[in-house]
Amino acid sequence: MASGSHRLDRHLSSTLGINRRNIKPLLAQGLISVDDKIACAADQLVNQFSRIVVDDMELPSMTATYLQMHKAVGLLSATKDAQYPTVIDQIDHPAKLELHIVGRLDRNSSGLLLLTNDGNWSQAMMAPENCVEKVYRVELAKPVTPDCIDAFASGMHFPFEDITTLPAKLEVLDERVAQVTLVEGRYHQIKRMFGRFRNPVVGLHRIAIGPLLLDPTLEPGQWRELSASERAEAVSEH
Ligand code: URA
Repeated sequence: MASGSHRLDRHLSSTLGINRRNIKPLLAQGLISVDDKIACAADQLVNQFSRIVVDDMELPSMTATYLQMHKAVGLLSATKDAQYPTVIDQIDHPAKLELHIVGRLDRNSSGLLLLTNDGNWSQAMMAPENCVEKVYRVELAKPVTPDCIDAFASGMHFPFEDITTLPAKLEVLDERVAQVTLVEGRYHQIKRMFGRFRNPVVGLHRIAIGPLLLDPTLEPGQWRELSASERAEAVSEH
């Protein structure tokens, strides 16, 4: 089943190849359960993670999976690639082939990367209107100038895509080190924004996505599952 919710009767009719009319009698006899509760309504919503049992037969379902990885410099934020090792290549998990990346990092960037097979969760994390903050530590070739801070706060026009970036926070931590907070993820956004000031980015590391912080016990290339409270907290504000 594709990501998102569907009516129970539609789902059963396509999975079992039976007419939707034949589902009501099964419901009336209490022969269908969803997530261990007897289902009563044909229009109950289910998704790809629902555990559905029909007359003692369990239908195939997916296990919702949420991972965080400490992406190492050199790994590609992709599922497979002929030239470079990818973040998925590093993962040994039963759901590995179902995973997608929640907000890519460039090959030469490092830090917090989220992966999941739950499209609703990743959409909620990445939709600019949800204002989930992504925090980066940025090392620069030259000192950061005050006009750069103002330009990040006002938004910058990218003629190629004809978009203006949403207000971003730029805090100077040291002469050539800054912390940048974005609520969106445009292509090479931070590098292009500093590029306007002829100040090349020499290191880029993501520290946080919303309330989720990069686990300091993860070495570059390592990953772990998110706890139930971490994944709920991440989308609780939307
Ligand atoms: N901005 C960039 O330029 N690169 C990243 O990897 C993330 C944000």
